[in-house]
Amino acid sequence: KKIDKKDINELYRDGDIKEAAIIIKNGGLVAFPTETVYGLGANALMPEAAKKIYAAKGRPSDNPLIVHISKTEDVKDIANDIPELFYTLANKFWPGPMTVVLKKKSIIPDATSGGLDTVAIRLPESDIARALIEVSGVPIAAPSANTSGRPSPTKASHVFEDMNSKIEMIIDGGEVGIGVESTIVDLTEQTPTLLRPGAITLEMLREVCGNVNIDPAIEHLLSTGAAPKAPGMKYKHYAPMADMKIIRGKEREVSNYLKSQIIESELDMAILTVDEHKSDFLSFIKENKKDNVKLLSLGSSKDMSSIAHNLFDVLRKCDELGVKNIISESFDESGIGRAVMNRLKKAAGFNIIDL
Ligand code: TXA
Ligand code: MG
Repeated sequence: KKIDKKDINELYRDGDIKEAAIIIKNGGLVAFPTETVYGLGANALMPEAAKKIYAAKGRPSDNPLIVHISKTEDVKDIANDIPELFYTLANKFWPGPMTVVLKKKSIIPDATSGGLDTVAIRLPESDIARALIEVSGVPIAAPSANTSGRPSPTKASHVFEDMNSKIEMIIDGGEVGIGVESTIVDLTEQTPTLLRPGAITLEMLREVCGNVNIDPAIEHLLSTGAAPKAPGMKYKHYAPMADMKIIRGKEREVSNYLKSQIIESELDMAILTVDEHKSDFLSFIKENKKDNVKLLSLGSSKDMSSIAHNLFDVLRKCDELGVKNIISESFDESGIGRAVMNRLKKAAGFNIIDL
């Protein structure tokens, strides 16, 4: 169902939203847009509904779901031991792309929380998402609406690719704005910990909270035995089908390295670059008649938000092209660049070449 309405009050009365809300309430699955990525929603209070999500995604059941609410005060119904800092953060960043981890109340079933005693909670900014939660009258458990292991969906067509015939409804609200999943902050200990970087950046969190720890799983491949605090961060998801690596170094060295790879490549290969470098590589590919090399721009290097926005779509395009290898440029890990690099590293299985 396609919905273009913007006004939230209109959305509360929208027939398709009402239909979707009834499906959710009765334990079915509905994919819906949020400002970050499309979510696959189910009634968070119904274990059977949460289980359907794991089945539709092919997701391991130890990977907990984010519970979406439509008002800050709804946190009290599902979480315990809520620290003052939560309200400070919620005031500043909700509705928006921030998820907080708090101690859970028993109303949240184990099927939703992956057996943990905590729950991840988010109040999305998207009007469609908030209207759907509000009209459903229940909190909505929603992971990204992709098949487990594939890049998160940023368009309804991505959801359709992965979920067609597995779920009751897809709400098409057009392309999402941000394109990478929400920032996750664990508030269950004295010092908050960043579990997944997103559009609410580490810098923004530190401005509000002072000290913020970073879960090491965000930046490095953990040695065997160590576990990230967000269970989902251990899986090599966001991954395209091809072998992928990331090149890091000075601009000139990166350019030379990529050109040597273009020359050497025998198999179909994709290079993920930026608008500013595109024409140089394109003419190089043409000169050397390397038709097997596809060039894809992630966006402008001067606008990291555009790169975040395009990233998953470009990774899906690589799958469509059927390339065997992908080499990506790398980005500065400040601001939303940290989220971009985290998703790229995960897509590449942390395969980084430092020049
Ligand atoms: O932007 C988003 O957050 C999107 C939209 C749909 O809201 N949702 C999303 O959900 O990205 P998902 O399931 O793809 O990612 C949720 C992440 C996983 O890495 C999971 O392990 C982690 O959140 N998580 C969920 N509950 C947790 C908890 N109690 N403690 C630590 N990590 C948790
Ligand atoms: Mg996901």
